[in-house]
Amino acid sequence: MISRKMQDALNQQINEEMFSSYLYLAMSAHCEQEGFKGAAKWFGVQAAEETSHAMKFFKYILEQGGQIELKAIAKPEGPFGPLSDCFEKALKHEQHITACIHKLAEQAVAEKDFATQNLLQWYVNEQVEEEAHAGEIVTRLKMAGANGLFFVDAELGRRNAG
Ligand code: FEO
Repeated sequence: MISRKMQDALNQQINEEMFSSYLYLAMSAHCEQEGFKGAAKWFGVQAAEETSHAMKFFKYILEQGGQIELKAIAKPEGPFGPLSDCFEKALKHEQHITACIHKLAEQAVAEKDFATQNLLQWYVNEQVEEEAHAGEIVTRLKMAGANGLFFVDAELGRRNAG
């Protein structure tokens, strides 16, 4: 059983994760249109991963006998600009998601909700990876400069799901 307050907060996080998926899908379309097929694939894989993050919360709320409340997903606002800007925006977005997860973790601790603390530990670890990956790509794009963009793009295209 989870509290009503925790249920509402987790439903809000479903919306954050679904928005993340939408945002990365929009970035994927943008990269495809700009001719960066590797980055388009990378963001497509990322979008699917975000949906799976939302679904993990979805299943958990139901397992705990809670109610699902799906909210409207906001429109991702462009323009997304050059490839390096896309990844910088992705990194900033992941930092925002990390802050959301940490806030949820604080709430779970305050409520002595051990089951939700345990679930959130997975997301805390996941966010370390998410920020590290986006950050690494931002660095690589900076190092590559204009001439190396397509090499980095080819590398991004090797990302597989999971
Ligand atoms: Fe689900 Fe990228 O945070």
